[in-house]
Amino acid sequence: MPNVGRLRWLHRTTGAAAGLLLAALGTSAFAQRASARPDRFVDSLIARMTLEEKFGQLTQLPGQWGDTGPSVSEGGADEIRRGHVGSILGVHGAAYTRRMQDLALQSRLRIPLVFAHDVIHGFRTIFPVSIAEAASWDPEAVEQAARIAATEATAAGLHWTFAPMVDIARDARWGRIVEGAGEDPYLGSIMAAARVRGFQGTDLSAPNTMLATAKHFVAYGAAEGGRDYNVADVSEVTLRDIYLPPFHAAVDAGARSVMASFNEIAGVPVHASERLIDGVLRAEWGWNGLLVSDWTGVLELIPHGVAADSAVAGALALRAGVDVDMVSRIYFNKLTPLVRSGRVAMRDVDAAVRRVLRVKYELGLFVDPHRYSDTARERRTLLAAEHRAAARDMARKAIVLLRNEGRTLPLSKSLGTIAVIGSLATDARSTNGNWAAAGRPEEAVTVLDGIRRAVPAGTRVVYARGADSATADTSGFAEAVRVAREADAVVLVVGEHQEQSAEANNRAFIGLPGAQEGLVRAVRATGKPIVVVLMAGRPLAISSFADSVPAILNAWYLGTEMGNAVADVLFGDANPSGKLPVSMARTAGQMPLYYNHKHTGRPPVANQKYTSKYIDVPWTPLYPFGHGLSYTTFAYRNLRLSAPTMRLGDTLVVSVDVANTGDRAGAEVVQLYIRDEVGSLTRPVKELRGFRRITLRAGESQTVSFALGAKDLAFHDAALDLVVEPGFFRVFVGTSSEQVEEARFELVDARRCAKRVLRRSAPRFTWPAKARTAAVTCR
Ligand code: NOJ
Repeated sequence: MPNVGRLRWLHRTTGAAAGLLLAALGTSAFAQRASARPDRFVDSLIARMTLEEKFGQLTQLPGQWGDTGPSVSEGGADEIRRGHVGSILGVHGAAYTRRMQDLALQSRLRIPLVFAHDVIHGFRTIFPVSIAEAASWDPEAVEQAARIAATEATAAGLHWTFAPMVDIARDARWGRIVEGAGEDPYLGSIMAAARVRGFQGTDLSAPNTMLATAKHFVAYGAAEGGRDYNVADVSEVTLRDIYLPPFHAAVDAGARSVMASFNEIAGVPVHASERLIDGVLRAEWGWNGLLVSDWTGVLELIPHGVAADSAVAGALALRAGVDVDMVSRIYFNKLTPLVRSGRVAMRDVDAAVRRVLRVKYELGLFVDPHRYSDTARERRTLLAAEHRAAARDMARKAIVLLRNEGRTLPLSKSLGTIAVIGSLATDARSTNGNWAAAGRPEEAVTVLDGIRRAVPAGTRVVYARGADSATADTSGFAEAVRVAREADAVVLVVGEHQEQSAEANNRAFIGLPGAQEGLVRAVRATGKPIVVVLMAGRPLAISSFADSVPAILNAWYLGTEMGNAVADVLFGDANPSGKLPVSMARTAGQMPLYYNHKHTGRPPVANQKYTSKYIDVPWTPLYPFGHGLSYTTFAYRNLRLSAPTMRLGDTLVVSVDVANTGDRAGAEVVQLYIRDEVGSLTRPVKELRGFRRITLRAGESQTVSFALGAKDLAFHDAALDLVVEPGFFRVFVGTSSEQVEEARFELVDARRCAKRVLRRSAPRFTWPAKARTAAVTCR
């Protein structure tokens, strides 16, 4: 008998009326069956399901992809026919999904399958990896990228993507920093919502929209030491102010699915956290979507040490609110006896099944289960010319110009000889980046290809491998130095190959791996003008050469059009406008590193020993959050506020004049940060609260205004309520988190010293905290 003694078997109400039996439904056509109101339809179906069929709906089977194309595991087809599978992960293709769907339609209740896949940054047309897209600070372009990904993926029979990944990452050692929008909850929330809108569109039942999944809920990016899957030891306040907001934004944008994360928080693995899933997500935020486990996340409750066996693991996860069991198959294989004995509540099973069926209904699958599996649409949609054009535009916007001494860039296209050096310049897999869905390396334009295509016939492009990122082999240095000597300029492409970032690819050293630092030194010694192009999934620590090469582009992994986009920027056909969504450290020893840190009681001061810093490296990043140069220059003038004071309920308008003071058109991301000077809890030194991407012609100026309201000043207090406290705030506006103009205002409240609660956390799920009687910020 499973050890269920440690479980709390609470009785829950589902709120939905169960048992509405519509007898006629069983035999009628799909369209008729689905014409009932969704809740009635779903409940009537549940009333007719056996327990086995119910657990089938909660079971997600992994597919495989081999030389002969997609397949499900042996016996899988039979399981589908018997109604033992609710969804399949990792297979696609209009013809194949149609065949699998036909099997599901042979099951007793003819409930269609959902096909899920990791469509993260494009499907066949690959867009920049998510951290790169975030560097565009262009939510419309990011939404469009997700829209195109959904258009292609749904044409290949997919209904459900495991994206967006909205985990905040403050530690570049963590491999999965590449998959999210970086370190900031405000930017992360905007990107999360944009991606959800892009994937889901306005009508989930349209054949070109798909279910989006906000993942990994929650604090997955806070893994100790940057070690994937590790403990996230975050305070409740940090959880609510930093890690939860992008999830809240995704849910507010309509995300119908959320994936649980592998980590534990405060001793509770998220897959078993009733407090976070049923509590915060469902009760506090009122979200009624589908919660999917991550891979074997249910089974992993055993090694976590909160379940003695798989039956308990399944019971804990179901009780916490995990609806779909990805891969483990524990719900299906283990929970039936527990339901029969009353230890797992049928209500919990039904609630999970209801959420699965509801989503199938919303996708329109009960009306037409084949609507997404259309081979003609698949042929005309994948890699369409307009998709590639959008990918190139997105890729240009994602490139961050970190340094450009002496206006080394842009390069002239008519230089006699350009040397391109580095293994990554021809690495098509890394060009696409990790999680490249159905992207094909042979369709990706590498950096070398892009440069060759861009220059006129009279310009020679010579290539040398030099070194690669995986080995210490220096045998290619001599050749690299030889081609550099022949050249008028060198484009040195260095960084990480795509398997040196992403899941489980954590690094203790975040400099250039392999022999590449030596390669940089050897090429630099030729004295030729060098442009370093960084290809990486994380902000690399490049201080060993950053000050001694004249130009550096952070180009991440930009997808199918990478080479063209890099060439556009190198030769000035595009003016770079990307801004870092993460701080770039000098060394891994600075981790975790993020701009919105706390002051501490001893803020760092140079030459004052007993302050919070290092003795062997500066405390500051090499390049700060929000940094990114342009081929033109921008001046910020005349920062002004609409009033010196603000009352709750007011809007304070912050304005600044931005001028393009250079000699060419360019785009600038104007950034607004605030600081709450004194609070009942300590507040960050700066917090991003607005940004605007503007394009200015040479010599043109524009006034940029931001409206600040109470919610922009709010934070979670010791009682975990979202509050605004009266007092002084600083406003910073500028071109990065460090280069800013500054102003100040006071938030006054009629009741002077009273804080204002904007949202209370649900009492059932808050941790005991001593409520503050009055804000201590008032003077
Ligand atoms: C495990 C990863 O953590 C998750 O992000 C992904 O969606 C699933 N595998 C499915 O591939």
